Amino acid sequence: MADISSIPPSRARTDGGTHAFPEAGSAEFSELLAKVRLDLPRRLSPKRLIHVLAVEEMAVRLGRLYLSPREEVRLRAAALLHDITKEYSVERHLEVCRKYGIKPTAIETAAPKTLHAITAAALIPDEYPALADPGVIRAVRWHTTGRRGMTVLEKLIYLADYIDESRTFPECVRLRGMFWDADPASMDAEERKEHLTRVLIESFDITLRGLIEDGMPIHPSTSEARNSLILLLKKNENRLPDEKKEGAKEPGRRGSEV
Ligand SMILES: [Fe+2]
Repeated sequence: MADISSIPPSRARTDGGTHAFPEAGSAEFSELLAKVRLDLPRRLSPKRLIHVLAVEEMAVRLGRLYLSPREEVRLRAAALLHDITKEYSVERHLEVCRKYGIKPTAIETAAPKTLHAITAAALIPDEYPALADPGVIRAVRWHTTGRRGMTVLEKLIYLADYIDESRTFPECVRLRGMFWDADPASMDAEERKEHLTRVLIESFDITLRGLIEDGMPIHPSTSEARNSLILLLKKNENRLPDEKKEGAKEPGRRGSEV
């Protein structure tokens, strides 16, 4: 088992809470993530581990289109940590919630799938202090339900979890095709942002249809995430062509909404 405690805890905070990670591509960066990868088998079944590593790879591929290279460490960290409590029982999730003073809503308790995002995010600062970056924690926290005004990092982790190459569920395969078959690398920044929004809306539509078919409650954050993406699309459709070009100059900054 990897000794995660040997990873240095949160270092200098640079801008009101942003975590100081090693440079993407540095030896320190590789060592940090390798330790986390080695730690995962004690938490996850082999099948889940394959999924998590596939999400990491997909997140990096998406990041090349939407984020600067230095964000790779956050993408990899969030991808590796997003399912660390996925195999907990409901009782264990509730135990973690109690420990951290979190009160799950009735909908979250009735839809235990939503609990693992809450408990995984809660555990990161104590169990993986070197990766306890606020952006990483938020990406883990919202990777299941989504939320209104998701950051680019949150969107990419949400989508990577949906379309990673280990997914064979027909709707996931279809969504993966919808994203990549459109050749987003050939698009200009504005088109690429809009493409991501459309694919994410489709992913929320699939989720909502599934929840309705299964008679499950709909988490308000999921409705809010879909609504906010639709409003974003409509706002962009109403902008003049010149305004769109202006908005495309700085694509995919972390923390901004695409
Ligand atoms: Fe996942």
